Amino acid sequence: MDKKIALVTGGVGGIGSAICKMLAKQGNFVVANYAIPGTESKFLSNMAAAGLNGGSTALAFGDVTDYDAMGEMVSAIARDHGPVDILVNCAGITRDTTFRKMTPEQWHAVIDTNLTSVFNVTRQVIDGMCDRGWGRIVNISSVNAVRGQFGQTNYSAAKAGILGFTKALAQEVVKKGVTVNAISPGYVETEMVAAIREDVRKQIVAQIPAGRLAMPDEVAESVAFLASDKAAYITGTNLSVNGGLHMYA
Ligand code: CAA
Repeated sequence: MDKKIALVTGGVGGIGSAICKMLAKQGNFVVANYAIPGTESKFLSNMAAAGLNGGSTALAFGDVTDYDAMGEMVSAIARDHGPVDILVNCAGITRDTTFRKMTPEQWHAVIDTNLTSVFNVTRQVIDGMCDRGWGRIVNISSVNAVRGQFGQTNYSAAKAGILGFTKALAQEVVKKGVTVNAISPGYVETEMVAAIREDVRKQIVAQIPAGRLAMPDEVAESVAFLASDKAAYITGTNLSVNGGLHMYA
């Protein structure tokens, strides 16, 4: 496979940086998007620890909730490195609380960052992928999209929205050589999961048939496969990486 340009939103986070590492090891040039100044230093040390230098990765600052900022970011990536061939929509946050306590701010923050972001970034790269006749879009959903989760009406709604988006867009662009798929991780060993109250987290882990959290690399392996040439005939699917926590069919 020739060298492709990959963009990973939320690329400096727990799952995002594992995806960047895996895509770079696969031979792609990977751009990690981030929105919180200061979070890039951990990414740089993670990449260096994996033996990856500036020749295979780069950083791009930008808020995924801002459509125009994403347009500017994608143009800058095209100018500096080349047009985006692989997009992984991974940026995501939680604002967990029971629905009766949820504020409009908590609702909108999660919908904007986890769902509207997928429109904001995909819209910037889709024409180029279709024109060039090759593209991969991998959207990171969640086991809680389909299963629902106490305390996550906002997050479950956003992640379920990603699944609908994936299936609709997949139909529109498959004839242009562009595939659109989702991955639904279960509970992964990241700061997001570490932030769950300990007693609640222990209860959740006790329900996972695998008996443990996923490692970020276990999610990243699936992303790398869907982003490769090998997955050319897979589109509109949702791949579960959840240790048996929820089984769809
Ligand atoms: N089902 C039914 N009832 C539940 C429940 C559940 N899953 N969880 C809690 N309850 C009940 C409790 O037993 C309690 O009942 P009583 O009042 O009768 O005692 C009541 O609901 C209140 O529960 P809490 O004490 O937990 O309520 P809280 O307000 O202190 O906390 C919460 C609410 C912050 C949402 C907390 O429950 C929580 O953190 N839940 C976990 C949410 C979660 O899984 N987040 C995932 C984050 S990681 C991620 O999102 C990545 C991914 O994709 C998987």
